[in-house]
Parts: sequence; C-alpha cells; structure tokens
Amino acid sequence: MVWRGLIDRYGDRMDITPSAAPVTLYEGNTPLIPAPRLAAAVAPGAELFLKYEGLNPTGSFKDRGMTTAITQAVSEGAKSVICASTGNTAASAAAYAARAGLKCVVLIPEGKVALGKLAGAIAYGADVVAIKGSFDDGLTMVREIAKVYPIALVNSVNPARLEGQKTAAWEVIDQIGEPPDWLCLPVGNAGNISAYWLGFRQSSHEKMPKLLGAQAEGAAPIVFGKRVDHPETIATAIRIGNPARWQEAEAALRESSGTILAVSDEEILAAQSMIATMEGVYCEPSSAAGVAGLRKAVAAGNFATEGRKIVCVLTGHGMKDPDTTVKQFKASEPINPTIEALLKRLEAK
Ligand code: F0G
Repeated sequence: MVWRGLIDRYGDRMDITPSAAPVTLYEGNTPLIPAPRLAAAVAPGAELFLKYEGLNPTGSFKDRGMTTAITQAVSEGAKSVICASTGNTAASAAAYAARAGLKCVVLIPEGKVALGKLAGAIAYGADVVAIKGSFDDGLTMVREIAKVYPIALVNSVNPARLEGQKTAAWEVIDQIGEPPDWLCLPVGNAGNISAYWLGFRQSSHEKMPKLLGAQAEGAAPIVFGKRVDHPETIATAIRIGNPARWQEAEAALRESSGTILAVSDEEILAAQSMIATMEGVYCEPSSAAGVAGLRKAVAAGNFATEGRKIVCVLTGHGMKDPDTTVKQFKASEPINPTIEALLKRLEAK
C-alpha cells in the first residue's frame, strides 16, 4: 500500500468535514519497535514496544493532529492559524501552514523551548512570538484572540486535532494485532492521552488497554489534583500547569482503570538514556517520561509485567533537544592525531 498520510488512510473514520484536499506531509505510519533489552531492565517478562512518534515529518506526534486541524481550517476558509506551544506544536503548525499557504503565528514561553523546535518554527516561516509567561498563559491568550480576530486556533482544544491523533491507537492495534495491556505516555496539556483513549474506544476490540500517564514532578497538576502556577521541569514539552483536557484525561484514566504518576527530572533523564543506549532509539526528555513512569510503577512492586504487552509512546525525537543531551556529556581532552595517542586513550577507558 502506498502511504499518503492519515486522512487518506483513516479519513472515513474521522469526525471532520473537509471540503478541501488533505494538507499532508504523509505523517503517521510510525514504527512500533520491540525493546527487549529495555524490557529486561524496567519491565521483566513483558513484551515491551516503543511507538516512535519522533519519526513523523516534523519530529513529533503533533503532525497527526495537524494534518486534520490545518485541513479543516483550510476548508473553513481560514487564511491564518495560531497556537500556543512548548515547541512541538509550533513547529508542526508552522510546517502544515506552510504546506497549505497559510500564515502561522506561534506563542512560545521565552527561553523555555528546545532548540530543534524553535529552529523548526523559524525554518517553516512562522511568526514566532515569545511571551514572558508560561505555556498556560499563552494558551489563554490564543483562546481569547481566536474569538475576536479572524485566525483559526490549532491547539488541541480544537477537536480536529484529536481526530488525527487518535489514529496512533489504531496503528498500535494493527502493529501488535490487539490493544496492548498497558499504554504508557507523557501527559502535558492532556490532548494525546485523550486522543489515544478516543481511538481505542472507537476500535472494534473488546480488550482495552490500561493507560499509564506520566507527568514531570514540577508540572504534575493531574497527579496532585491541583493547578501548578509556576510549572518547572527539564522536560520543557510538558512544562504545563493547567492542562486544557484535564477532565478528559481523568475520564480516560478512570475508564481504563489506569494510573498517573509523577516522575522527577532525574528519572526522566535516566529513562531517556536507557532507551537510547539499550535500544538505539533517541527521544526527547519528555518522551521518556512514559518509560520513567513504567519503571517507577514496576519498581514500586504492584505492577505485574510477566507476559504483558506494554507500549511506551515516544512522542518526540531526541534531536529536538540536543542541548539537554550534550550538557550531560563530559568531553575528554582532545588527543594528538597519532595512533599512539589513540591507543593510550582507548586503554584508559
Ligand atoms: N511529548 C511531547 C514531545 C510534547 O511536545 C507534548 C506536548 C507532550 C508529550 C504532551 O502531550 O500536551 O497532548 O499531553 N507538547 C505541546 C506543544 C504542549 O506545545 O508542543 P499533551
């Protein structure tokens, strides 16, 4: 089958009304990679898989929802689109807007967006507006402006976004033949967990996965049941204190008999490193939160892994945030360009 993107593949099962041709970069169809070494380390006896969403066209799962949101916006006659973002939504909106010939404005928290995301938004030609505030402040602003100004809002409060993002659940089912026992993923604005649950509910399977959500300790409003006014975490993608889809996320967790837990920045970075060094799969820090959450739940002792099929969603590519990786690296002294120096260096390790 020739792959022509998510609307071509799943459009008949999406609740959108596009009159225009799909705006697509042939997103979706990402690999589900078996992770046996990681399984042995964090979930013994389980069949563990990584849904590598970093392989979407702009490097994150956001492209799934952007093909639908931008196609819908074009159908409705929009000439420009706007979003608030911790980075990935901005890059994705900018790319799909460019593809459709629309203007794109992105609001980002000043100094808190990873380099690869900012570079993407700039490269795709968005009007990048840095705000002296958080993602939550930005989201409030764009929701207000879209009411009074002719500009289409493409954050995940837009239902068309979820219609695209839910397809990831169907891909997972196709790739392992049934819904997994557990699906683990990071939670920020809570659009993705809501979209997965929508997708699983709309599948023809009776078996439903349990959802394991993970938030960063310094930005864990759902875990602690309280809005966080000044969220803080190294995982800047999920640096969110007041998720727009909080209630849907709680419903999904409840209906799936799932769980949500907080993981520290250290646990997130440790998980990111384990995924990369044990499986050769590089994801950005926030994407590793699902694995960190799984590891923590298993270590706590009340999480059966034997024979279970577990999927961890890696939401964004590691190269989105090279700074965080490189900062952890202690470079050794450069050596002279001789074989002797190299031998000495190899033996020293
Ligand atoms: N992982 C990554 C890499 C993200 O960029 C995001 C959200 C999430 C997880 C959480 O997904 O918000 O649906 O719960 N990024 C948004 C953005 C907020 O602006 O790019 P969520």
